[in-house]
Amino acid sequence: MRILIKRDVLFNHLSAPVLNTGFLNQLKEFKQHGKCTCYDHSIAVAKTALFLSMILPFRFKQKQLVRGALLHDYFLYDWHTVKLEKLHGFHHPTIAAENARRDFNITKIEENIIKRHMFPLTPIPPRYKESVLVTISDKYCAIKEVFVALGHKLKRLVSVVPLASAIAFLIAAIPLR
Ligand SMILES: [Fe+2]
Ligand SMILES: [Fe+2]
Repeated sequence: MRILIKRDVLFNHLSAPVLNTGFLNQLKEFKQHGKCTCYDHSIAVAKTALFLSMILPFRFKQKQLVRGALLHDYFLYDWHTVKLEKLHGFHHPTIAAENARRDFNITKIEENIIKRHMFPLTPIPPRYKESVLVTISDKYCAIKEVFVALGHKLKRLVSVVPLASAIAFLIAAIPLR
């Protein structure tokens, strides 16, 4: 598919400054869903969000979209074993944003992408179009990774992925600005 090749060329170009810092390699140490590492998950979310930005009839700030997506789960601990005072699902966007601020010069949009990507689990909705795309892409990739982890038996149910994504989109698109 031509569009996927185009997406990958653009992704390589936009992601290089972040990936070349080496900081993101820390995510290879941590599992996200199943065998998928936080690093693989973040790349998948960034590529999915970039793909959506190419096919949707809106203008997106693609550089910030990719950077924010790559850093959305930059919390840097194993959430399966580390015990936090607050639940990981609710708290990790704040930790990821703090880490991203420390290691990268993040913009307002990138910060919003990171902080709001768990909406609607966390109650404040995404503020920018780019944040909405990452919120949707994150759910799509997470569901896909969980299904892969659950194995072939559930593969038939993979059709729920577009449905879940559509629902997430409708919820997340409400505050579109
Ligand atoms: Fe997350
Ligand atoms: Fe994520």
